[in-house]
Amino acid sequence: MEEERIVTSKLENQGEERFENCLRPKTLEEYIGQDKVKENMKIYIEAAKKRSEPLDHVLLYGPPGLGKTTLSNIISNEMNSNIKITSGPAIEKPGDLASLLTNLSEFDVLFIDEIHRLSKCVEEILYPALEDYTLDIVIGKGPSAKSIRLDLPKFTLIGATTKAGSLTTPLRDRFGIVHRLELYSIEHLTTIVKRSSKILGVEIEEEAAVEIARRSRGTPRIANRLLKRVRDYAIVLGDGNINLKITKHALNKLEIDELGLDEIDRKLLETMIVQYAGRPVGIEALAVSVGEEIDTIEDVYEPYLIQIGFVARTLRGRKALPPAYRHLGYDIPEENI
Ligand code: ADE
Repeated sequence: MEEERIVTSKLENQGEERFENCLRPKTLEEYIGQDKVKENMKIYIEAAKKRSEPLDHVLLYGPPGLGKTTLSNIISNEMNSNIKITSGPAIEKPGDLASLLTNLSEFDVLFIDEIHRLSKCVEEILYPALEDYTLDIVIGKGPSAKSIRLDLPKFTLIGATTKAGSLTTPLRDRFGIVHRLELYSIEHLTTIVKRSSKILGVEIEEEAAVEIARRSRGTPRIANRLLKRVRDYAIVLGDGNINLKITKHALNKLEIDELGLDEIDRKLLETMIVQYAGRPVGIEALAVSVGEEIDTIEDVYEPYLIQIGFVARTLRGRKALPPAYRHLGYDIPEENI
């Protein structure tokens, strides 16, 4: 299987990306967690193969780091097809998308990360391409302009987004398969950490794997990054093998607490608890207080804080809940008890 990376969406640390790639599972069998998505995808893939048809278009959404790209690579692998990878912001003009589409081969997978960031005019090119594998292009300008229709190879689009709500309805409606990826359980993350350690050739104690899992905010990408840092400590301070003591030491040095919260999480919670005295706070005010973008708070920080019951989204804004007060050592206001 050939993998072609046309553009990367983020300025990612190359070493980090290579590290992530070598840990990525290649088959559904190897992929840990997201059982519902896996079960369904397995059926759809098998059915498409039996019919000798391309897989229906797939939309994967959910917080970053949960394996949307990994899953897309697995899907193309399981379909025995090639994958071309790009992202919403990288496709600037309709012509960019037209050239991507006309260069696809039959049954190829086109992966568009951050698909919610496609511009309106690019998106419109996509509709007929998704619906009946055709491309409408306009040649010339003014009254003599002519529209011609090209046939495209039958392909599968996999769109990934952290913001399903930002997708336009016509685009969303053209995906036959829509799945939301959920934050991972500690058990699944523990299995991922143990699998990654094995690939990296590091011995890890069960308790140490659980500790890393607990502090990974439900996110495999974070679990693998923490594992890498803990491994550094184990090499320098120990014999290279990872035990609970060295894990706790390393994670405390990284200022990641027992629940995986970092400085920004704590600042967010303190803004709600201290500065706003427990009253609902607007996302804009939170963003200014902690010096992060609204999108980062919504996509990266908030899902986990909501999942562990520390924050609630109300009609009037975000509010810290009693477990957050307890965790940070603040008295819970009477009206919240
Ligand atoms: N590495 C990152 N995500 C993974 C997953 N879901 N299963 C196995 N290994 C992974």
